[in-house]
Amino acid sequence: MVAVDGPSGSGKSTVSRRLATLIDGIYLDTGAMYRAITWAVLQSGADLADPEAILKVAQEVDLSIGTDPKAPHFEANGTDVDAAIRGPEVTGAVSAVAAVPQVRAMLVQIQQDIIAGAPRIVVEGRDIASVVAPDADLKVYLTASAAARAARRSAEDATDVKATEADLARRDKLDSSRKTDPLKQASDATELDTTGMGIDDVVTRLLEMLNSKV
Ligand code: C5P
Repeated sequence: MVAVDGPSGSGKSTVSRRLATLIDGIYLDTGAMYRAITWAVLQSGADLADPEAILKVAQEVDLSIGTDPKAPHFEANGTDVDAAIRGPEVTGAVSAVAAVPQVRAMLVQIQQDIIAGAPRIVVEGRDIASVVAPDADLKVYLTASAAARAARRSAEDATDVKATEADLARRDKLDSSRKTDPLKQASDATELDTTGMGIDDVVTRLLEMLNSKV
């Protein structure tokens, strides 16, 4: 089991999906889980400043979590949310939803159940090595300079680089400063700064690290 953590835009998703495919395993995008809950919260009209209202939606939503690294498809309440969870409304609200401790506890439990049933799995997020799977075979903390992260994200979704950089900084600040399970590097995770590295280089490096551990 491989845990890949790091800030927004550090390349976690692309790299984790490639790695999962290469080891013939499955892939869990925990950020997509928080995003899908956020989509349901926005749909319900619940107040983002009301943790109890957020939790109620989270408890009631019927979430379908795709773990195929080639096409991780998500549904919430029977609706395909793959596009909507990447949109600006969800991206703007997700950190508030992810800061609710009971929502985190609920999703962490689901993540741990999925991991328990699938030893060959690559899981990406913010708190995987520190909270969800402290016993992971490999724990990697991916970083990249703020400029490199913004350039990658804006190339992916064709948005303005400066606006993307500001949005990433805003989310990193919220995610690192929240009380419950903040974004942080686990003490036993290996940091890999991917600034200037291509995807293939990063994946090769992770495969080497994994092979030396298992
Ligand atoms: O990885 P992604 O950018 O899709 O994550 C969206 C948001 O979900 C993050 O900004 C963070 O607030 C939250 N998140 C989290 N814990 C995780 C994964 C994501 O709090 N394990």
